[in-house]
Amino acid sequence: MRQILLLNGPNLNLLGQRDQSVYGAKTLQDIEQEVIRFLKRYDLEVETFQSNHEGELVDALQKASKSSSGVIFNPAGYTHTSVAIRDAVDAIDIPVIEVHLSNIHNRESFRSNSYIAPVADGQITGLGSNGYLAAALAMVKILEKGES
Ligand code: DQA
Repeated sequence: MRQILLLNGPNLNLLGQRDQSVYGAKTLQDIEQEVIRFLKRYDLEVETFQSNHEGELVDALQKASKSSSGVIFNPAGYTHTSVAIRDAVDAIDIPVIEVHLSNIHNRESFRSNSYIAPVADGQITGLGSNGYLAAALAMVKILEKGES
């Protein structure tokens, strides 16, 4: 069965407790379960991984290029700072969709820059947890058509 990596960056392990007015009430486990359930319908298995550490996210992306067909990725705070994560996304040849719960374009100005977006297949931002499902559907369509 083909596998998708659902990858989440720093502080997303605190979802549900962390600033609910911005990030919603669901926990990361809730969101992961929704994506797992959704992609099961399309015979896609989901591996989940969250890390607060930049290098671990780089390692996960490199590993995914060998074991997964695509990555749904919320790089969280590293979106706005990490050349290393951007280079990892750029280096792997499977589709990567960037997701943000909040709308990074209507918050502090430093958040509107994403180092990841130019090398990702697309960016979904501001749709809350539905953004992960939108990314999951887009991933299905990308894999069906073999386009990225
Ligand atoms: C986030 C947006 C980032 O700016 C922030 O640092 C996060 C979460 C989001 O999902 O809205 O940690 O990626």
